Amino acid sequence: MKMKVICSICALLVILIISCQSSDSLEFNRYYAEGSVVYQTHCQNCHGQHGEGLNGLIPPLTDSVFLRKNSDQLPCAVMFGLKGKITIGKRLFEGQMPPASGLANIEIAQALTYITNSFGNKMGIFNVEMVNGDLVKCR
Ligand code: HEC
Repeated sequence: MKMKVICSICALLVILIISCQSSDSLEFNRYYAEGSVVYQTHCQNCHGQHGEGLNGLIPPLTDSVFLRKNSDQLPCAVMFGLKGKITIGKRLFEGQMPPASGLANIEIAQALTYITNSFGNKMGIFNVEMVNGDLVKCR
């Protein structure tokens, strides 16, 4: 009897864990898919189809270390633009990224989920709550 109860509790837990994981990955997949469209429309012209950048002018999006280290700055850079010296993949860039005009916070989140999980990067979801929180801190 006791065994049965324990077993059914275990089974329930397993089901719970599995369904939580799949709803997480569903959310990730949705962000990633939408993000690829935002990227193609608003970023690809400059950063390239494979995030390769453009010669010495536009940095590639393949520097996982930079992206990870500066992840909480990325929403501000996309929303308000970025200029000045930055080192990406051991190369120095000194250009200017214009502000993304008319992008909603959710689209920024989707684009960031896309770039931080493409081109060799693997950082997991960048959701709209994170973007909202980071945007408040833009200087
Ligand atoms: C008009 C060209 C242009 C567009 C469009 C553009 N960027 Fe950029 N981006 C740049 C330049 C130039 C820099 C480097 C700025 C500097 O030198 O300080 C940059 C830097 C970055 C960086 C930080 C450096 C790196 O390579 O990791 C990220 C992340 C980034 N852009 C993401 C995006 C995303 C996401 C979009 C679309 C929403 C976008 N960019 C659209 C030109 C552009």
